[in-house]
Amino acid sequence: MKAVILAAGKATRLRPVTLTMPKALVPVANKTLIGYAIDVLKGAGLTDIGIVVNDLESPIPQTLGRGNGMGVNLEYIVQAEQLGLAHAVGLCRDFVGDEPFCVFLGDNIFQDKMEKLFNGFVESDAETAIALGEVSDPTRYGIAELGDDCIKRVVEKPKEPKSNLAIAGVYLFRRSIFDAIGRIKPSWRNELEITDAIQTLIDDRCRARPYVLKGWWIDAGKPDAIVLANQLVLEDLPYTPAPEDKDQIIGKSEVSHRVLLGKNSQVIDSVIRGPVIIGDNTIIRNSYIGPYTSLGDNVVVEGSEIEASIVMKNCVIRNIPGRIDSSLLADNAHVVAAQRMPAARRLILAENSYVQL
Ligand code: G1P
Repeated sequence: MKAVILAAGKATRLRPVTLTMPKALVPVANKTLIGYAIDVLKGAGLTDIGIVVNDLESPIPQTLGRGNGMGVNLEYIVQAEQLGLAHAVGLCRDFVGDEPFCVFLGDNIFQDKMEKLFNGFVESDAETAIALGEVSDPTRYGIAELGDDCIKRVVEKPKEPKSNLAIAGVYLFRRSIFDAIGRIKPSWRNELEITDAIQTLIDDRCRARPYVLKGWWIDAGKPDAIVLANQLVLEDLPYTPAPEDKDQIIGKSEVSHRVLLGKNSQVIDSVIRGPVIIGDNTIIRNSYIGPYTSLGDNVVVEGSEIEASIVMKNCVIRNIPGRIDSSLLADNAHVVAAQRMPAARRLILAENSYVQL
């Protein structure tokens, strides 16, 4: 079975981070979001993966290349105009050929490895299989209503939801989906909805097999969701003893277990309480790094406290009073205290930035 990961969206809800970086490359516990999708697919034995991007010049192909070193073969499919998920899937027809295939939404992240979703699908009588997750706000998702061991109806963002089981962004299809996509019309949001193509299959009396997810699932479309995904992934880190290397843990430092410290990074007179992940060449001085924090490569944290946050590469945090919490700093962001009078606030922010003082 081949797989396609859909990663062409504009990710406007995650601006300003996504003004320069596609959502698929946003790091969660120092691994890209799309890296988690690739891991699930690889775990299920799917190594021929097409990634739908909006431009071949996008940082996604530049960063992931052909997948060398990741144990997968990556190809790229261009969706120049964002006309909906079904449109994106339709563009994958030549890539997948006549075989059953998986569609994975690149901004969804799961605790479940989903082996049972994949197992036996090819030999089954089902025309589609869909991962479903319970949600508290079903009007925001595609929602499935279950019958006897099958999905009997799916509705995209229903006003009056009949269930709280959301379509969670991992679908298995056969080539029949392409014909169904050809028969649907754009929705109220002017998109070709994959949910409508699935309903077309169901109307054709095709069997749609449900798979209810175990554990957490995050649609990481907004900053809060990314920060939460980071916490959930770090929470699942296995136990590792406290790092003790004297070249890295220096002075009056206290570093707990479940702290992963990258190459050449140094902790000087600081306290780190895991789970925390820290990239390479990062310096932490006179600071506190609290649980559920991910610091990227080449970060400097001095005289500051931070917890439950994502700090991407090349950021600087210096002499900030009070604790930084639940924050998301993209590459090269600087948060520093004024070094001379007047000690005024000074902000240089991109569109949709958020500052809480
Ligand atoms: C899309 C799908 C929806 C699904 C959701 C999962 O919604 O249309 O059916 O439940 O992804 O993340 P969108 O993110 O486009 O609002």
